Amino acid sequence: MLEAKELTKKYEDGVIALDHLNLKVESGEIFCMFGANGAGKTTAINLFLNFIPPTEGTVFIEGIDMIKEPLKAKDFVSFVSENVTLYGNFSAFQNINYFSKLAGKRNLTRDDYSNVMKRVGLQEEAFNMRTKNFSKGMRQKLGIAIAIIKDAPNIILDEPTSGLDPKSGQEFLVLLSELRDLGKSIFMSTHDIFRAKFVADRVGFMQKGKLVMLKSKEELAGEDLNQLYIEYMHEHANS
Ligand SMILES: Nc1ncnc2c1ncn2[C@@H]1O[C@H](COP(=O)(O)OP(=O)(O)O)[C@@H](O)[C@H]1O
Ligand SMILES: [Mg+2]
Repeated sequence: MLEAKELTKKYEDGVIALDHLNLKVESGEIFCMFGANGAGKTTAINLFLNFIPPTEGTVFIEGIDMIKEPLKAKDFVSFVSENVTLYGNFSAFQNINYFSKLAGKRNLTRDDYSNVMKRVGLQEEAFNMRTKNFSKGMRQKLGIAIAIIKDAPNIILDEPTSGLDPKSGQEFLVLLSELRDLGKSIFMSTHDIFRAKFVADRVGFMQKGKLVMLKSKEELAGEDLNQLYIEYMHEHANS
């Protein structure tokens, strides 16, 4: 379970990037956040992960206050960034081994790594390749594998399908629904309205740091999400 309470970020230059966000993502739920570039999605994610301090409000990960007990809270959350950080001179195997150990997973075998890399659709020829030669999609897949292997109950992803081709994007969303069915809480920011509609249990639209719309799958049934997005963005453009 992932929760933001009155979460607010005002940067030094006065920009209010996130304005009193209140949101709870339950176990077994996929939440998709949409919004134009600059809407505040990455800021919200950076606050969820305690990469930057909030101006106001707080974050709870499995009920643990991320601001007060960051080290404890971080054990319960995995993150896949928009630009996955890997060691370029290391192979995929070496990267996943390194990051798994860093996440405190010490008893994993080479088979465990192979299985999870297969599961995310990374081609086997790439397992021993240095990651500096990886395409963006391959980096994204390995990043997702690293996040999955940590086996945290919460997964946060910032535009995870942005580097993926359509087939990989589709497979990725199937994978996310499997993780949801295992009881994970999943929060992702995305521009992929078309595909996200099929996996999201709830969606939110963010504009200028404010959550301007929040709807469940049931409320969205029969709605054209793309059209709804455009209408909301237009309606709140000057507010
Ligand atoms: N480190 C920073 N310092 C100052 N302003 C920032 C910083 N990071 C982001 N912003 C501003 O905060 C707003 C939200 O940005 P961001 O969270 O990156 O949006 P999104 O991920 O939705 O594209 C934008 O106006 C952006 O320019
Ligand atoms: Mg962003």
